[in-house]
Amino acid sequence: MLKHTASSVLAVIAAATTLLFAPAIDAKTLTATATLKADQPGPQISRYIYGQFSEHLGRGIYDGVWVGEGSAIPNVRGIRTDVVTALKDIHVPVIRWPGGCFADEYHWRDGVGPRKDRPSRKNNWWGGSPESNAFGTHEFMDFAEQVGADPYVSVNVGSSNPTEMREWIEYMTSPGDDTLAQERRKNGRDKPFKVPVIGIGNESWGCGGAMTPEYYSNEYRRFQEFFHKNSDNSAIRVASGANAFDTKWTEVLMKNIGNRMDAISLHYYTLPTGNWDKKGAATGFSQQDWANTFDQTLRMEDLLQKHIAVMDAADPQKKIGLYVDEWGTWYDVEAGTNPGHLYQLNTLRDGVLAAANFNIFHHHADRVRLTAIAQTINVLQAMILTQGDKIALTPTYYAYKMYVPFQDATALPFDVTAPTYTIGDKTLPAFNASAAKGKDGKTYIGISNMDPNDSLVLTVDIGGLKVKNVTGQVLTAEKMDAANPIGGKAVVAPVAYTGGKIKGNQLTLDIPAKSVVVVSLD
Ligand code: AHR
Repeated sequence: MLKHTASSVLAVIAAATTLLFAPAIDAKTLTATATLKADQPGPQISRYIYGQFSEHLGRGIYDGVWVGEGSAIPNVRGIRTDVVTALKDIHVPVIRWPGGCFADEYHWRDGVGPRKDRPSRKNNWWGGSPESNAFGTHEFMDFAEQVGADPYVSVNVGSSNPTEMREWIEYMTSPGDDTLAQERRKNGRDKPFKVPVIGIGNESWGCGGAMTPEYYSNEYRRFQEFFHKNSDNSAIRVASGANAFDTKWTEVLMKNIGNRMDAISLHYYTLPTGNWDKKGAATGFSQQDWANTFDQTLRMEDLLQKHIAVMDAADPQKKIGLYVDEWGTWYDVEAGTNPGHLYQLNTLRDGVLAAANFNIFHHHADRVRLTAIAQTINVLQAMILTQGDKIALTPTYYAYKMYVPFQDATALPFDVTAPTYTIGDKTLPAFNASAAKGKDGKTYIGISNMDPNDSLVLTVDIGGLKVKNVTGQVLTAEKMDAANPIGGKAVVAPVAYTGGKIKGNQLTLDIPAKSVVVVSLD
């Protein structure tokens, strides 16, 4: 029988930890080439690609956004100041609310009027937790306005009717003297709210009503007849789209709804294992888990291509947008937390993965005009984690921050030949990238190096582009699962990038393993 002494056990743990996190002993520098065609501008990368999703789920809204006016946590009209400041800094363009599954059980009247009179409901989708309705329409609009983001409101189709939708829209947007506009005024808001995007149902194939695409199309058509798209309400109408690879859903909606919708949504989550029963851990994962996670997330490319092909066949002029309004990592919840609250930690892996998805979205900017990561605070792949009055800005947050110059930039063709990274049965491209001309006139290149071991030297032919300066930022860390402590100093945060050189029309970029790099050329 083997006997373990305390020190031999510690030695085994130490060796295992080294295997998990240290760069492989044979870490190499890979090389790759790319071509930047700055003289062939492509579509605009809508700033809405950098959207957020905030649902009444776990501590996403309560604690995360809303602490109430009487809270000792600094707030403006009940909304956390630290969170607003952080979100302003990443220029959040649009926030989707109130769900998610929650939206199809939400009745807007529960969340207007004096807070003391609002009913308490059970949040049936998310842990059965009490929903106080303290955060309703006015509070959400205030939050969006404080952040400087556009509201994207999802209306209840699954357990409601067109009248409730119409009245909510009128309440929010009517400039007139009608009773609903007067009620809004009585509740403290004179001017109509700006509501540029409205979702008609959520996951109508699942939690939003378990409908078939044919049934949902009929429901959508009925609701949209009472939507009254006009000068008071000019919102983009978003139809509830497919679950991941279900292209039949998209096909039926394109045929049966057609131009009665302005956009169709798509939801795809990254589970390291691809298995909903055992998704994988947010921290303490192996290199194989890292590779499996990227393998799953890179399916986004194939997913978009498949849905876009279906949309192109019906709408070659690309009038209807494809909105990936729920995406991101979904891990097993942190031990000791309510399984219905979907609380997970966020590491360097999430930051590198977010950038890999941004690059994919940029490649399809002519059709993908909005995305919303799930979810902004304390839920799934969050930007911010809170604990009482303390917060952490996650590696995902910093990836968003680094990519701000891509908002409303013009996509540029950036052709790369990436080496591969192999572990076990998984072979992935070592990196992906995209380029754009920013609104400031500078050219930007974003790179996600998904190889956890090997650094990369990328040589870029920049053609006729005249470049004097190469500056930028890099996000990396020693460990794959490095995370920023709540209330402590961030260990995964961008620093100045000094790995770029320009000589004639040749740009050379040194890219560390497991990193995000955004360079600016001017
Ligand atoms: O983001 C969490 C949930 O995932 C949303 O409520 C739902 O739309 C999706 O299934």
